[in-house]
Amino acid sequence: MSPTKPLAVITGASSGIGRAFAKVFAQHGFNLILCARREDKLTELATELAPLCEAHVVALDLSKRKGPQKLFAAASEIGPVDTLINNAGTAYQGRFASMPRERIQDMVHLNMRALSETCALFLPQMLAAKKGKILNVSSVVGFQAVPGMALYSASKAFVLSFTESLAEETRCSGIKVCALCPGLTDTEMVDDLGTEHVPGAQLMMSQPEDVALQGYNALHQGEVIRIPGILNQAVVNWAHYQPRWLIRMLAGIAERSNLAAHPGTVTPDKS
Ligand SMILES: NC(=O)c1ccc[n+]([C@@H]2O[C@H](COP(=O)([O-])OP(=O)(O)OC[C@H]3O[C@@H](n4cnc5c(N)ncnc54)[C@H](OP(=O)(O)O)[C@@H]3O)[C@@H](O)[C@H]2O)c1
Repeated sequence: MSPTKPLAVITGASSGIGRAFAKVFAQHGFNLILCARREDKLTELATELAPLCEAHVVALDLSKRKGPQKLFAAASEIGPVDTLINNAGTAYQGRFASMPRERIQDMVHLNMRALSETCALFLPQMLAAKKGKILNVSSVVGFQAVPGMALYSASKAFVLSFTESLAEETRCSGIKVCALCPGLTDTEMVDDLGTEHVPGAQLMMSQPEDVALQGYNALHQGEVIRIPGILNQAVVNWAHYQPRWLIRMLAGIAERSNLAAHPGTVTPDKS
């Protein structure tokens, strides 16, 4: 591996925003460690990026207890990690009471436990080296309660709060920590959620390439929170200045009317 190139670990690199992150980092002179469960997709991406960088494939399930530790062990054999992109995540649409138990566990384990454990594993090296960067992917839904996506929005609120605290704890240590909070983005996750019923969804839809580039820029510019897209920023900022009960109530009305118009809209089980 070229000693001059920094190394970035990207989780959830097999599709969507993570795949776009891999391309952005490769174009900006990074070598990569690509992590997700689908090895064929990761290998295909590594081959595509071969003219630009060395891309190592680490195929594993981060929601499993030893997933983050296995990723860290694999990365330690490749080289010191400059950047950690915690992007892997899973979503579920539907009322919490009807959410299958295994989906609850997967979401808690992937969106929160794996993300915090990878930070815990990679951060000490970065602190010792007095340099490094961590980007955690949250969401605009992390700023408010979202009935119909109760656990998902709570998991993204966790990511946002955790990342903000980490950014302050590591201030002046040479490490940059950023929470990327995309709105609707055209990926497999959104295909599964079935947003065709959501009014204005197409208007709000971002492309994963734009979101990943915004994340790259925010991280390197030392921003702690980046919301890609003017419309998303406007909605989050407007909601910020409203009473919390009002935002919660409006979200509840939207969820009930969507459910009444499209009963049975839940995330399909792909496992
Ligand atoms: N799309 C949106 O509208 C949107 C908006 C805000 C935030 N986000 C966030 O953006 C991030 C990326 O999502 P996306 O929209 O790009 O969706 P996506 O295309 O479905 O990508 C999700 C990625 O996570 C990986 N992943 C899922 N479960 C995993 C597991 N147990 N272990 C390891 N990797 C796993 C998937 O790969 P494998 O299936 O190969 O494991 C895939 O690479 C997520 O954190 C999501 O919450 C998305």
